[in-house]
Amino acid sequence: MDIKLWREILDPYYLAVDELLVKFNHIIREHRNYNQYSPIDTVIGRVKSISSILDKVQKKGISLNEIEDKIDDIAGIRIICQFVEDIDKVVEIIRNRKDMRIKSEKDYISHMKESGYRSYHIIVYYTVNTNQGPKEIKAELQIRTLAMNFWATIEHSLQYKYKDNIPEHLKKKLSNASEAIIVLDEEMNYVRDEIMDAQNSFHMKDELVSEILNNIQNLYKVANKREVMKIQEEFYRIYTESDLDELKHYSKQLDMIAQSYKAQSILEGN
Ligand code: GTP
Ligand code: MG
Repeated sequence: MDIKLWREILDPYYLAVDELLVKFNHIIREHRNYNQYSPIDTVIGRVKSISSILDKVQKKGISLNEIEDKIDDIAGIRIICQFVEDIDKVVEIIRNRKDMRIKSEKDYISHMKESGYRSYHIIVYYTVNTNQGPKEIKAELQIRTLAMNFWATIEHSLQYKYKDNIPEHLKKKLSNASEAIIVLDEEMNYVRDEIMDAQNSFHMKDELVSEILNNIQNLYKVANKREVMKIQEEFYRIYTESDLDELKHYSKQLDMIAQSYKAQSILEGN
């Protein structure tokens, strides 16, 4: 197969990975916009390299024209969660989507692989629109926690280094590390609620501050400059000295001030 052919094959997969990244990142953004905890922490994606595809072709003994049929992970998306419980939520989100159809699921979390690998895999059918018309391709979604991802990344590097023949003593170490990851994820689940609260108030503060500054900026157009300066100073004082509740209270007051200016300017016919 020449280079042009590879490009023809792989182009739709590049499009699919781009689109899926946008969509999963949007899920994060939508949660944050509503001040909700996002079950997804980060998303990454890649199209399998030609040399990895060739390796797999060789390993699985498939022919070159079976590539798209037999290799499920030409498009690969990795969805990283903070907590094990988040994984179920993400799986549910994927099952409910109308723009991807599930081909198969593998639960390597309840059923850890012998290596110690843990992750939830879903193969989906996903349609992209190309100049040649719509094309349905497959994509592999790997859903795992930050800790599971840490383990898998390290183990993968070792697999690469030892060409899939990791020495026994290292395998044992990896297996022990995998057990430690299970304990770590469990311990983290205990503090999940507290962490979620902290992260929620962090995002809430972010939004509150941009709302306040927006209001102050608008006031500059209608109010006396010295008054606005005073309001701004008051904001900095509350921001540095007080908690989220006071910031909320201040924001409400500022809303009222802004509204009264607006009413005034309407009355004055501006
Ligand atoms: P292959 O991708 O050919 O292995 O197909 P399969 O049907 O055996 O799929 P499987 O679910 O076992 O693996 C799919 C992907 O999961 C792999 O391409 C890796 O990215 C990842 N994976 C599976 N097992 C391991 C493992 O032991 N260690 C690491 N680091 N990753 C793994
Ligand atoms: Mg495998």
